[in-house]
Amino acid sequence: MVDAANQLIVELGDRSYPIHIGQGLLQVNGVFAPYIRGNQVLVVTNETIAPLYLNLIEKNLSRYQVDTLILPDGERYKTLHYLNKIYDRLLEKKHNRSTTLIALGGGVVGDMTGFAAATYQRGVNFIQVPTTLLAQVDSSVGGKTAVNHPMGKNMIGAFYQPQCVIADTATLKTLPARELYAGLAEVIKYGLIADENFFYWLETSIDQLMNMCPDSLATAIMRSCENKARIVSQDERETGIRAILNLGHTFGHAIETAQSYSDWLHGEAIAAGMVMAAELSKLLGWLSPDDVLRVRELLAKCQLPLWAPHTMRSDTFLELMAVDKKVMDGTLRLVLLKSIGQATVTSDFDHQLLGKLLKNRL
Ligand code: NAD
Ligand code: GLY
Repeated sequence: MVDAANQLIVELGDRSYPIHIGQGLLQVNGVFAPYIRGNQVLVVTNETIAPLYLNLIEKNLSRYQVDTLILPDGERYKTLHYLNKIYDRLLEKKHNRSTTLIALGGGVVGDMTGFAAATYQRGVNFIQVPTTLLAQVDSSVGGKTAVNHPMGKNMIGAFYQPQCVIADTATLKTLPARELYAGLAEVIKYGLIADENFFYWLETSIDQLMNMCPDSLATAIMRSCENKARIVSQDERETGIRAILNLGHTFGHAIETAQSYSDWLHGEAIAAGMVMAAELSKLLGWLSPDDVLRVRELLAKCQLPLWAPHTMRSDTFLELMAVDKKVMDGTLRLVLLKSIGQATVTSDFDHQLLGKLLKNRL
């Protein structure tokens, strides 16, 4: 049994599910059993994570028909071509509608496996086993699944909730420092959009987090998931409030697409995007210069980029931002900050100011 004290529920009526957070969860006997329907399981992972954790998972699934698929590692493989390999394996191994897909990995594996689960035979069970900080605090929760298109990030996907999320914090021990810091960008996002006290706690706890202090990490993961679960429960399909979870993402996704998904990490692009959103919020008279400095200082401490690459031109930005999923009837909407802890989604900003910002002429 897993400890109910380290569990929270994403409340979505008959699609509600638990997030289990704890050290060593993958070794808890039978941890998957309540969430598996039939006797078939496909574990999808990648070539970096498989040698680290695939055995551990397989041991815990010995009573099922377990098949595996090991994808190449990287955001640039989050494509329809590699998604198809999941369907190929499911069909080769004759998985039926009561199969369960297990996503073992970071956000790339989680998003792809989730989309495969949403579409294979019109929808089968899936379980998220996030192994990066970013995936434990963000991508495994909330049911957004997708692959990238060369012209736009996460452009092909579905909302599809997992049966549960099992976040074993012990897996973070093998995570490279750069990946940990990229995950901290999304943790900081929650403080900025909805939780001023959490932002303050992060400012005072950032050294412990960067040194992987288990208690601090557990607190940061739990608080991030609480924030995300609360927002997703109110607006599963992003018709309103959920869009604030995309602070920095319109800028960040444009950076990732311009780099063909192969240079900066997702969290790094989001960090730069959040500074850009904070600076625009300052130009609009919402965020004070001191608050923008706090945002910059916290992200800089995590060794994250504070602006888009200088080679990225403003017309490239505008072209890529025009295909953002928040564009409505041709109008660009951005997530901006009214204050630390309060975000808003708006199209009501001076586009000349945005132009200046993108030319880095503030
Ligand atoms: P990732 O999945 O590429 O993982 C980062 C790297 O860490 C990879 O090289 C991976 O192999 C490695 N790795 C994973 N776990 C490890 C471990 N325990 N030890 C050692 N190495 C490990 O990247 P990510 O940052 O986890 O996720 C980014 C992706 O998530 C992006 O595609 C982004 O669009 C998506 N995302 C989705 C949502 C959502 O709501 N669905 C939210 C945020 C981000
Ligand atoms: N990462 C944004 C969302 O889940 O809505």
